[in-house]
Parts: sequence; structure tokens; C-alpha cells
Amino acid sequence: MAYKTLRELVAELLQKENVLFEGGGKKAIEKQHAGGKLFARERLELLLDPGSFEEIDLFVAHRSTYFGMDKRELPADGVVTGLGTVDGRLVCVYSQDFTVMGGSLGEMHAKKICKLMDIAQKVGAPLIGINDSGGARIQEGIDSLSGYGEIFYRNTQASGVIPQIAVIAGPCAGGAVYSPALMDFVFMIEGVSKMFVTGPQVVKAATGEEISAEELGGAETHARKSGVAHFVGKNEEDTFRMVRELLSFLPSNNAEDPPFKECSDPVDRRNTLFYDLMPANPNKSYDMKKIIQEVVDDHSFLEVHRHFAPNIVVGFARIGGYVVGIIANQPQHLAGCLDIDAADKASRFIRFCDCFNIPLVTLVDVPGFLPGSYQEFGGIIRHGAKMLYAYSEATVPKITLIIRKAYGGAYLAMCSRHLGADMVFAWPTAEIAVMGAEGAVNIVFRKEIEEALDPELKRQEVIARYREEFYNPFQAARRGYVDQVIDPQYTRLKIARALEVFWTKRETGKGKKHGNFPV
Ligand code: HXC
Repeated sequence: MAYKTLRELVAELLQKENVLFEGGGKKAIEKQHAGGKLFARERLELLLDPGSFEEIDLFVAHRSTYFGMDKRELPADGVVTGLGTVDGRLVCVYSQDFTVMGGSLGEMHAKKICKLMDIAQKVGAPLIGINDSGGARIQEGIDSLSGYGEIFYRNTQASGVIPQIAVIAGPCAGGAVYSPALMDFVFMIEGVSKMFVTGPQVVKAATGEEISAEELGGAETHARKSGVAHFVGKNEEDTFRMVRELLSFLPSNNAEDPPFKECSDPVDRRNTLFYDLMPANPNKSYDMKKIIQEVVDDHSFLEVHRHFAPNIVVGFARIGGYVVGIIANQPQHLAGCLDIDAADKASRFIRFCDCFNIPLVTLVDVPGFLPGSYQEFGGIIRHGAKMLYAYSEATVPKITLIIRKAYGGAYLAMCSRHLGADMVFAWPTAEIAVMGAEGAVNIVFRKEIEEALDPELKRQEVIARYREEFYNPFQAARRGYVDQVIDPQYTRLKIARALEVFWTKRETGKGKKHGNFPV
């Protein structure tokens, strides 16, 4: 018997690998390109540092026999899994291969993803899932469903331990959408991504409604309306660049601090811009994002959920080199009021930051919760409670700056001292009151106004009195609820110093299993 030499065996190995590396084959890859999509392996090249990818389970094969499956070979079982680096830091990544049976998920495909998720948790590295799949592999029946269940279970176990990022790079239908939904951030791509629990045909059959796939579950829909998508890329290159940028702000796991980065932007840079930015008339709006950009290192702010609930702004930045999560009201939308979507958006972001040791910087200009039956029927009470809970529960450093309006329950909800803020600053423009002057005088002085000879004159007089008494930061400062009333030009310096002081803050849990978050 002639034995094969090592060289011959290696040549065979390379040949086998090369076949598998082609996924569904050249034609299928061309079809993928023609549809404006990249091949699963090309996506890894965009995401990872060059040459860093170590693939695992390339040779995994399905063992299904139904509906002719015994005669089908599915390279890598339709998903590429492995480890690589982004800016030199380890990540675990899977990329579903649509050229292999539509990237559908069968038993072994799921097992590969689960193995990777287990490794990610063991080594404490972020998990990135690139989804491009027709969903549960129909021919594998219950084995496909159980595969999804195992993934959902691991998504949940890994939540708060490692950052989890989903990129939707094709269709994502049925229950398959719930793995991305359990992860921390969802990226979608304009014109490429689709996500829905039931697709357009089922919608039509069940309800008679006719709607295109794009309108039902495209990037625009999920970024603006449902809030499922946190980021939208113009194309695949843009999307993977954004994933890399997001990772630059995140620790690899919950036992690490987020990556500090020396910067040349001086922490004592004065913010004199604010003198011109802030309108003298408190009823005029301004762009809160300009305030954020002026305060943070190199004016660089990575906004999360940009298109959803624009009345609140959330995102990552650095101040004095320290990563922070910023939550800020946006007076340009709904006057900065908190509503259902804003509360959901903010509380999820706050909880993410708290999981991963990212201090919270809250910038307040909020006239209250948005009034109206639509909000009440939709459960603003339930949703607003999430913000109170999220801030109260968060043990990371919490720094609050009250810029202008801070009224009533919304004052409390925006990380007030009472919810555990570690340092509260206020500008001289701060207005901290139970409610706005117009509403307040109608309640408190109703009789006097009605009985006055000139009711409107009286109304204006009591409004002026109310404003004089309450529209300032000093009442709160006298009680110690505001630690410092600051000259706005020193805002960056003040926040940077507070971060330095509270960076070492450590609070331990309360020894309970978990609270009952008001979902
Ligand atoms: C098996 C599948 C498949 C699936 C696609 N394919 N989806 N095979 N199971 N779920 C196969 C096709 O048969 C085809 O194989 C190849 O993938 C490419 O699919 P096409 O239809 O030719 O591609 P395209 O026209 O681009 O349409 C893509 C698609 C469509 C929109 C995703 O394939 C589709 O509607 N698929 C079914 C989607 C679905 O309903 N999935 C089940 C969801 S329920 P060949 O051999 O011809 O190349 C679910 C439950 C999860 O996922 C529950 C978790 C709790």
C-alpha cells in the first residue's frame, strides 16, 4: 500500500479548502454581487484587520436526509465562523453565506454559531453576527427551530457579558429576527437589509394589506419607525466601517474598562461658542448636537439610533480620553419632550453603558413628558418608568448637566441627583421647576386671575413672579441637588474633571436575583 506523503496530504487539504471557500460557487457569488450584496467572506475582509481571520468548523457538514438533502453538499453548511481582530482587538464573528442554500439555518449551521458564541463568552470577546439568510432551513424541520432556540438562549446568557452586534446584510425573516433583537446593536444597510417577523405575502394573506418588503422591513423603516436598527450604512463598506468605529468605544467584555485614548484636544478648551448658541428666549430652540460636539474630544460623537426618537440624542464619545455614553434632550424635536420612543431609546442605551462600565453624561433641556391620549394609551407611564429604573439602577459614574429646562417628572428622569447622579452641574440658564410657568399659574393662581379686573395682565404678572422664583438653578443649588452652577465656557473642563474623579467609582449589586424592569 502506498502511503501519501505529508506534502500530498497538505495539497489535498488546500484543494478541499479552496472548494469550500467558494461557498455556493462562482455563479452564485456573481448572483449575490448582481443583487448589490457582497459574498460572506468578502464581508469578513471589510470588517477584520487584514490577515487576522482564523476560521473554525470549515468542514462541518449537515446530516439531514429529508427531501433530497442526503445528496446535497453545503459548503461550511452556509455559515463562515471564526475569530479575528478589529484594530488589534479580538472579536468572534459569523457570516451567513446566502450562496449556500440561501444561508438557511439548519442543525449544524446553528451548532457552528453556538460554538462561536460559547468561545466569545469564554474569552470575553465581542460577538458580531452577519445575517443574510432565508431563515430556518425548511428541510431540517425541528432541528432548525431548536438551532434558533439555542442561539437565543446564548444571546441572552451573553447579554451584559460581551457586546453583541448584528449586521443585517440581506433578508432576516420569521423568528430569525429575534437573535439580532436580543443583541446590543443592529446595523442595517440601505436597500440590502430586510427584517420582518412575517413577510409581505403572509401579511397580505392574513390581513389583506399590500406592502412592499422594503416598506415593511427595510433599513429606513427600522431606523425611523420601529427603532429596531441602531445604525444604517449607505452600503456594505460604510456599514462595516461603522461597526469598527463602534467597537473602538467598547470594552471587550464587562470585566474591562472601555478603551482610554490619549488625545491632543486639551480638556481645558473653553466653550465660548455656547454664549452665542444659547438663545436668550427660553422658548427658542437650538441644536443640542452642537453642544455635544463642542464638549467632546475632537468634536467627535458617534450617534446611536440617529433616526429614531430624535427628541432624545444618545451616543458615544470621549471626554479627556475617557469613553462616555451621552444622553441629551434635543429641543429641535418636540421641544425635547420625553415620549414613549425616547424613553425606550434612552433606557436601553443607559443599560448598555451600565453593563459595560461606560460613564453616563446627561445633558438636560426637557419641558416634560409629551402630553396626549396617544402617549397615555400607548403606555407612557410604563415606558417612562424604564428611564427612571435604568438611571436608578446604573452604578457607573453619572454626571448631569442641566442646560435649560428641567421640569417635573422629566427633571427627575434625566438623571437627577435623586436618581443617583454623582455630580450635577447647571448653567445659569437652568430652569428647575415642577412645571412650566404658563401651566403652573393657571393652577396656582386660577382664582386671582379670574377675579382680577384685567385677567390677562394678572396672568402675566404671576407668570413673571413664578419665573423669577423658580426659573433658575439656585433653588436646587441651595438644597445641594445641583453641585455647581457653572460658567458654560468651562463645561468641557468641569465634566472632564468629574469623570476623572468618579472613574474609580465602584458600586456593588444589591444581592438580589434581578429587579423587575418595567418592560
Ligand atoms: C431552505 C431556503 C430557505 C429556507 C431560501 N432557501 N430560504 N432553503 N430553507 N428557509 C433556498 C432556496 O430554496 C434557494 O435554493 C436559495 O435558498 C436561494 O433562495 P431564492 O428564493 O432563490 O432567493 P431570493 O429570490 O433572493 O429570495 C430570498 C428569500 C426567499 C426572500 C429569503 O428564499 C424566501 O422567502 N425564503 C423563505 C423565507 C422564509 O419564510 N423562511 C422561513 C422563516 S420561518 P436553491 O437550491 O434554489 O439555490 C423561520 C422560523 C425561525 O425562520 C423560527 C425561529 C424561532
